[in-house]
Order: sequence, then C-alpha cells, then structure tokens
Amino acid sequence: MSSYRIGYFVGSLSSTSINRKLANALISVAPEGLEFTEIPIDKLPLYSPDYDADYPPEGRAIKDAIAGVQAVLFVCPEYNRSIPGALKNAIDWASRPWGQNSFNHVPTAIIGASVGSIGTAVAQQSLRSVMAFCNARLMTSPEAYIHLQQGAIDDDGTINDESLKPILESYMVEFKEHVARVLTVLPRD
Ligand SMILES: Cc1cc2nc3c(=O)[nH]c(=O)nc-3n(C[C@H](O)[C@H](O)[C@H](O)COP(=O)(O)O)c2cc1C
Repeated sequence: MSSYRIGYFVGSLSSTSINRKLANALISVAPEGLEFTEIPIDKLPLYSPDYDADYPPEGRAIKDAIAGVQAVLFVCPEYNRSIPGALKNAIDWASRPWGQNSFNHVPTAIIGASVGSIGTAVAQQSLRSVMAFCNARLMTSPEAYIHLQQGAIDDDGTINDESLKPILESYMVEFKEHVARVLTVLPRD
C-alpha cells in the first residue's frame, strides 16, 4: 500500500485551540498510509520582502518542512470572517521568495472548526482563494465546515460526538485519494 507524508497546519496560536483538537481527531480517524507531521507557525516573525535575500532560520524551516512532505492539510479557524493572521503570515513566508513558492503543485486540503454555526465557511473560502493563487492542487470536494460543540472532541483527538466521526473519516479517505491522484501526475519525492 502507498504511504504519503502529510504536513498539517493548525491555524491557531491558542493553547486551547479547538482546531488543534480537530487536527488530532482527523489524524486519529485517517486511513492507513498517511503519516502526519505538524508544520508549526508560532515562531515566525512577520513576513517582509526585506527577508527575501536572506531568509532567517524560521523562514527556511517552514519551507524545508513543506519540501519534506508530499501534501498539506490546513485545519483553520475563522477570525473575523477570515484567515487568522498567524496562518496568513506563515503562508506568505512559504510562498516567497518570488519563484520559490513552496506550495506550487502541492496536494492540499482545507478544513476548520468554529464555535459559530457556519463552521469557518467564510475563512475557508478565503483560504481557498489564497491557496489557489499559490498554485496548490486543492481538494474541492468534500468541504467540511465543523460547528464544534463543547466536549465533542477531547484534546487528544478522541471524538465523543458519534455523528461527527463518520464525517471526519470520510473526509480523510477522500483526502488520501486526492493526494494519490495529484501525486500520480505531479510526483513529490
Ligand atoms: C479574534 C477572533 C475572531 C473570531 N471571529 C470568528 C468568526 O468570524 N467566525 C466564527 O465562527 N468564530 C469566530 N471566532 C470564534 C472562534 O470560532 C473560536 O474562538 C474558536 O475557538 C477559534 O478556533 P481556535 O480555538 O482553534 O483558535 C473568533 C475568535 C477570535 C479570537
């Protein structure tokens, strides 16, 4: 069976992030053949083109981390109907210097959880637009907008809400198929 290295972004710096819980839950129900590594975003300074000539270690680290995986998964909160600034900053770092965009052709999926009833739908559309510009190979379907109820997922990813489990399971099955499909024509070693 083929195995794929997945880098995942949690788009929140919160120590109690519900999106980190969601990421852990997604990993816990993922099909065999996916290996997950978090790509951290919390140490990055704010991006400026002034860094392009000589990226600092934090900037090189995020680009190296993406180069080391075959696909990426964004688990993204919604802040003020958009992408949290910390995540957008990380994407900006990874997309530059010009001509060295780390997301080019990378199989990518987006999911997110919020306490609001539309479950990050607006932020996800915003993130889709950003990642389309970055030329990532986006999984367009299924979409998953998770309105997370308190206690639905434990910190370690244990899913207590039985209605949520099959949604996350099938999302990850589809994600693996998307990764396999994209890598067939755009391999990443
Ligand atoms: C600055 C800020 C803006 C927020 N804006 C939204 C929003 O636009 N839509 C929404 O559904 N929830 C919003 N929320 C509530 C978040 O859904 C909630 O804080 C959630 O826990 C964020 O995910 P996280 O815990 O992974 O950081 C906002 C929260 C913060 C702190």
